[in-house]
Amino acid sequence: MKIGVLKGDGIGPELVEATLFVLDACKVGLEWVDIPIANEALVKYNHPIPQESLATIRELKVAIKGPISVDKMKGRITCVHKDGSAHTYPSFNNAIRRELGLFVCPRPSKGIPGISDPLHETMDLIIMREITEDAYSAIEHRIGNVAAECVKLCTREAVERVTRYSFDYARKNKRKKVTCVHKANAISITDGFFLECFRDVAKTYPDIESDDYFVDAATYYFVKRPEMFDVIVTTNQYGDILSDLGAALMGSLGLGPGGNIGTEAAVFEACHGSAPDIAGKGIANPTSLILSGVMMLRHIGVYEMADRIEKAVRETLISGVRTPDIGGTSGTMEFARNVVSRLG
Ligand code: NAI
Repeated sequence: MKIGVLKGDGIGPELVEATLFVLDACKVGLEWVDIPIANEALVKYNHPIPQESLATIRELKVAIKGPISVDKMKGRITCVHKDGSAHTYPSFNNAIRRELGLFVCPRPSKGIPGISDPLHETMDLIIMREITEDAYSAIEHRIGNVAAECVKLCTREAVERVTRYSFDYARKNKRKKVTCVHKANAISITDGFFLECFRDVAKTYPDIESDDYFVDAATYYFVKRPEMFDVIVTTNQYGDILSDLGAALMGSLGLGPGGNIGTEAAVFEACHGSAPDIAGKGIANPTSLILSGVMMLRHIGVYEMADRIEKAVRETLISGVRTPDIGGTSGTMEFARNVVSRLG
């Protein structure tokens, strides 16, 4: 099967190299197709997200992506389509997600013995972040020099879609509960509507438990009592913040995997950025992208190998082979080679 590869920048190319090294060692018949994006695409197509690259991702349906240094291209991104229509997005990653119709960003937070703090060693939850709406819809403007305002968009279609995905995921993965995280006490109409749509869908899944928490309380409990959560479904912004917290509670941003899933395509990427402070040093933690690769394997139905890689990654970490972000001295490729040596 052909898989798109978007190397990204900063630590992106290093993490991609380590991840493909591990996936290649599995010999499950994956063929990599380089797809230019960001600076590489600027040089070739004069646009950071060229329609040619998007078309290749749509055709292949699955891609793996390194992080991108978006500050080099700060601000909005306009994508012009072949039919002459154009759409402006608030950020680089938002543009990729929405051009490809990706609607949910699942980000697991799973504790690792000896690395996560004792309260979070047994943590095992997944955050389903809605990624098409909320305050990230680029509906905002300045009012002269006195104010600025932003629309926090919430449609029934988008909330029901991400909620159904979360309940279906819970059913398929034998998870017991789906929790909606919102702020319906303060943003009563918009987050109230998110909660209402969530509850409407929850009623159609009587076999799965459901509940909800205000985002401030959820953040507190995430730190103090993570076992309260199983599957969390939430808005774009709360999901963005909570998933970085999840990676921190695992032990490092470099441990947090993720995906962006739609009906036509899926792009798998780590939850962190391009880490310019450590780029090019060969010390970035590749766990986040290797585990994103594990999510990708499950997405394409390669379950047994996915389980084996995840087990090998955890064994490697627990054995003490660790990159500097989690107190070790290993390099990126040294870590990847150790994972491969444990695949059996
Ligand atoms: P960052 O996530 O890149 O880095 C924050 C801290 O975590 C840094 O100290 C970094 O060294 C560390 N870190 C991150 N990933 C690591 C890894 N795999 N191994 C070891 N340490 C790791 O966040 P920052 O510095 O705010 O953003 C850097 C750039 O990345 C910016 O241009 C930002 O816009 C972009 N970004 C891109 C994303 C994407 O492409 N999906 C997501 C988030 C940020």
